[in-house]
Amino acid sequence: MAKHDKVEVGISTILNPVPVVMVSSAGTDPETEAGRPNIMTVISVRKSRHSHKLITETGEFVVNLVSKSLCKACDYCGVRGGEKEDKFKSCGLTPVKAKGLEYAYAIKEAPVSISCKVKSVQELGSHDMFIAEIVGVTADSYLLDDNGKLCLDNARLVAYNHGEYYLLGEKLGFFGYSVAPEEIIKKRMGKDTKGKKK
Ligand SMILES: Cc1cc2nc3c(=O)[nH]c(=O)nc-3n(C[C@H](O)[C@H](O)[C@H](O)COP(=O)(O)O)c2cc1C
Repeated sequence: MAKHDKVEVGISTILNPVPVVMVSSAGTDPETEAGRPNIMTVISVRKSRHSHKLITETGEFVVNLVSKSLCKACDYCGVRGGEKEDKFKSCGLTPVKAKGLEYAYAIKEAPVSISCKVKSVQELGSHDMFIAEIVGVTADSYLLDDNGKLCLDNARLVAYNHGEYYLLGEKLGFFGYSVAPEEIIKKRMGKDTKGKKK
């Protein structure tokens, strides 16, 4: 068969790669076992998850981006339930009050944390989709350049591709590069479109 001849591979959620994130939340009383800060790995939230209960209780959660150094903790928080276990403690992570929120905690070790307030809940059968407003974003100071611009390319972010975690690697282009002038491409990519270094 030729490379682009098609075969059926079964109907599944094959849209890949996707971002992998660690969602942190807490109950109204973080000092109790039921309300202590928790983390789960997520795309949308199954009703059975402990995090579902916490997010429903407070209407708050934090989306923490995952860097290479957080990858193992991210996987752990995606396979262990938080009802009986303090996952912050198990993973050696630090809960810090999240910008703009009353109850939820962010993960200090995450490069970027996005504070969210639930606006509505979309029921999708087994999962609920929490539609939320972003009320605060914090980033590690090392991610800002001298002009205060956020350089996420330095965060060594992880993507999830068909059941496996990958470190984002080679930069292939930037928004609009297919139509950008050669001098902009050289400046942004460090080489011209023929691959010659500047
Ligand atoms: C890569 C990855 C992605 C996941 N995505 C979801 C998801 O989208 N929705 C969900 O309900 N669980 C998802 N999980 C599973 C939960 O993170 C897992 O059940 C976790 O233990 C729930 O924690 P909690 O009960 O403390 O909230 C995912 C796990 C991994 C490893």
